[in-house]
Amino acid sequence: MGDRSVYSGRVLVAGATGRTGQWVVKRLLHYGVAVRVFSREGDKAVRLFGESVEIVVGKIQESEDVARAVKGCDAVISALGSSSYSGDSSPASVDRDGVKRLVDEAAKAGVKHFGLVSSLGVTRWYHPLNLFAGVLLKKWEAEEHLRKVFSLPGCSWTIVRPGGLKDGEPLRHKLHVDTGDRLWSGWINRSDVAELLVLSLWVEHAKNKTVEVVNGIEQEQSGLAQYFDQLPD
Ligand SMILES: NC(=O)c1ccc[n+]([C@@H]2O[C@H](COP(=O)([O-])OP(=O)(O)OC[C@H]3O[C@@H](n4cnc5c(N)ncnc54)[C@H](OP(=O)(O)O)[C@@H]3O)[C@@H](O)[C@H]2O)c1
Repeated sequence: MGDRSVYSGRVLVAGATGRTGQWVVKRLLHYGVAVRVFSREGDKAVRLFGESVEIVVGKIQESEDVARAVKGCDAVISALGSSSYSGDSSPASVDRDGVKRLVDEAAKAGVKHFGLVSSLGVTRWYHPLNLFAGVLLKKWEAEEHLRKVFSLPGCSWTIVRPGGLKDGEPLRHKLHVDTGDRLWSGWINRSDVAELLVLSLWVEHAKNKTVEVVNGIEQEQSGLAQYFDQLPD
């Protein structure tokens, strides 16, 4: 548990047992935020998080499981990501339909804020990554759905589109943050992507923003909230 409690709500993390998701959980706990994780593998979640979080086991393909997961949560952060061309772990099933289902059930349950890990390049149908079962196009559809549903009064959303993901500690690089899907390349630590989405829970300038992000130079950062301030409203 961290030394500060800056957000009093409970946050559901989807894709929590993945590499970015684990960082989302760590950074939420750092700030003393109550965490519930939604995982298809209860044992893996227990192994990773022990008793520090609440665990709901279920499938992202099942609306009833998703509804159970979001019930009573104030915010959702999704770090879900596909891993196979077809079937339950395909871009269509996870990056598009899974995220859309999560958005819909979250809105029905009265969740107020939704943060999503997406990707650079989602607006470009001709991007080579689309050779992987149209993954960027599927993420774009999910983004559009989130922007529409969570733009209702009293709700907010934040979409972070990272460059290539790397492992490593947060707050070790300056960041280059942009909007409009104009960046073509760059790397970013998963931990910094997680930090930005966690900050989006309480940083007003992060609300209703879609941002692309890659590393700048290596330089210790005291925080990342200021990167949202540089964006146009
Ligand atoms: N790799 C890159 O360079 C890159 C660049 C830009 C954007 N992104 C995107 O960033 C996000 C996070 O990436 P990452 O590397 O942290 O991903 P990751 O380690 O592969 O984690 C993905 C998460 O999605 C979950 N998941 C996959 N299929 C699922 C299914 N059928 N049902 C439920 N959960 C499922 C995984 O669950 P389990 O833990 O149970 O497997 C895991 O928790 C992804 O959306 C990825 O596409 C990646």
